[in-house]
Amino acid sequence: MKFFVDTANLAEIETALADGFIEGITTNPSLLAKEPKADYLDHMRKIVGLIQQSGRNVHLSIEVIAKEPSEMVPEADRFVQALGYEQLAIKVPISQHGRCFTGVVRQLASRGIAVNCTACMTPMQALAAGAAGARYVSLFYNRIRDGFLDRHSAERDALLAAGTVEADDFDPAHVVAESYRLLKASYPNAEIIAGSIRTVLDVKQAGLAGAHIVTLPPKIFPLIVAHYKTDEAVDSFLADIGRWLN
Ligand code: E4P
Repeated sequence: MKFFVDTANLAEIETALADGFIEGITTNPSLLAKEPKADYLDHMRKIVGLIQQSGRNVHLSIEVIAKEPSEMVPEADRFVQALGYEQLAIKVPISQHGRCFTGVVRQLASRGIAVNCTACMTPMQALAAGAAGARYVSLFYNRIRDGFLDRHSAERDALLAAGTVEADDFDPAHVVAESYRLLKASYPNAEIIAGSIRTVLDVKQAGLAGAHIVTLPPKIFPLIVAHYKTDEAVDSFLADIGRWLN
């Protein structure tokens, strides 16, 4: 399993690159909106600059922000041309309010553009993304679970009643595992990115369920490596060698 970092913040990206554990960076419009207002592509150019300064050839996912499918394809082309970054992937949502965007995925994939089909919540969305040629399928781990926790969700009940989803489709580890099985059988080149991560255990469970990549909020990685017994061991090593040297 590979680690990506899930942020558009330049300082957080610089730190993650320096920490040496990431093989990619994922952004989304909400993450961009947390940053000082600027030109979208100029901000992405700064991220590419940080990557190039690090000497690491890491993945970068940036999302289309056009609202209409007819505008998404030329926008994605502009992003690719403007950034000229080999490891760039274009994020395209799987759908929105009944509008299906797999046609955009296919058009971009047909141009040789790596597509990260995002905002996926079910194994069937993941399979549809793979069928449309997506190189990456982003499953929103905790938002999947939120769908189960949402109280009085008429939308959830309608999906269940229609036989579109089943209860297990609100268990994120189960969704990752089924998505993995479906994609491996039919679209083995599509990699699962588990996003919407909130705890270290989410990372472990998503990885054990089969996610190829987990994209971490920056605050998570320090929690992965920290442990009070590690502190105790290292403190004792240094104390012991300190006495021995003096
Ligand atoms: C992945 O890149 C997603 O855009 C992101 O992880 C979504 O997570 P959120 O549910 O915290 O917005």
